[in-house]
Amino acid sequence: MSTAVAHPNIALIKYWGKRDEDLILPCTGSLSLTLDVFPTTTTLTADADAAADAITFDGAVATGSAARRITAFLDLVRAQAGITARARVDTRNSVPTGAGLASSASGFAALAVAAADAYGLALDERDLSRLARRGSGSACRSVISGTAVWYAGTDDATSFAEPVAGPALGMVIAVVDAGTKAVSSREAMRRTRDTSPYADAWATATAADLDEMLAAFGRADVTAIGELTESNALRMHAAIMASRPPIRYLTPQSIALFDAAAALRADGLDAWATADAGPNVVLLCRDGDVAAVRDALRERTGLPADRLIAAHAGPGARLVPASDPAP
Ligand code: DP6
Repeated sequence: MSTAVAHPNIALIKYWGKRDEDLILPCTGSLSLTLDVFPTTTTLTADADAAADAITFDGAVATGSAARRITAFLDLVRAQAGITARARVDTRNSVPTGAGLASSASGFAALAVAAADAYGLALDERDLSRLARRGSGSACRSVISGTAVWYAGTDDATSFAEPVAGPALGMVIAVVDAGTKAVSSREAMRRTRDTSPYADAWATATAADLDEMLAAFGRADVTAIGELTESNALRMHAAIMASRPPIRYLTPQSIALFDAAAALRADGLDAWATADAGPNVVLLCRDGDVAAVRDALRERTGLPADRLIAAHAGPGARLVPASDPAP
């Protein structure tokens, strides 16, 4: 029996678009911050007598595409390990699933670490990152603590995440809507590639944004990091919105939060907005400013305290003793 914990990550430079759907090779590299909130805890037990994988999410039996995706992932691990035994998988999520709060990232990062251990694969951090990527692209970054860069690479061996040094950053997550999103990021990525006239421009601009971002990390330039973060997110949403039929993740409340970030900056408190494939907005700031940004947002937006989550850099995916409760 192996138990692993992983946390979600939020991209400062977004991953949006695959050059290889099977291997999950992205069109461009990306960069993110792994957080210390909303952990996923997954326990996996190989069971030679079982006819099929038995998967539960927060105690409820998983069926349909969610279960198939996990079995397909475990098949990869089993093929690598040369073991056919099915598994019992129990996953506990403290992040609202499918709400654009990166639950697939923490989910597949925890599953990769637990499955590799349970099936006897001795993988280093890079190989665990490559493995997690096969479950969900962004999961390769949740294997890494704190800030991580995911190199697009050109094949399975060269597409992985690793730590990147930089200033201490924090985030405030503004939960606009905790419900499941209408279009999954997997489907929306496909539609953007197939129908958005801006898909190629997005990829070209993002490759340049990542170079600039890595340079900004190198000189610990928080202002440049923040400005690139906000701009890259809006570029992603522009490309998504131009799909047909259109997909629009940002709601009026999301846009109001981008305005709120600008207002905070005008008041002398540095914070920049970003948003994934959903309406929730995340404000990036210096780590020491997290509490002040949260308070200022509360005052300015009227969002209740439980919808403004303070987050700091968190640990990469790791094994924990089975009895250990999620942190
Ligand atoms: C908007 O990693 O969930 O959060 O690889 O198809 O599983 P799949 O997609 P996923 O997409 C994440 C998209 C994003 C941006 C990001 O995290 O970089």
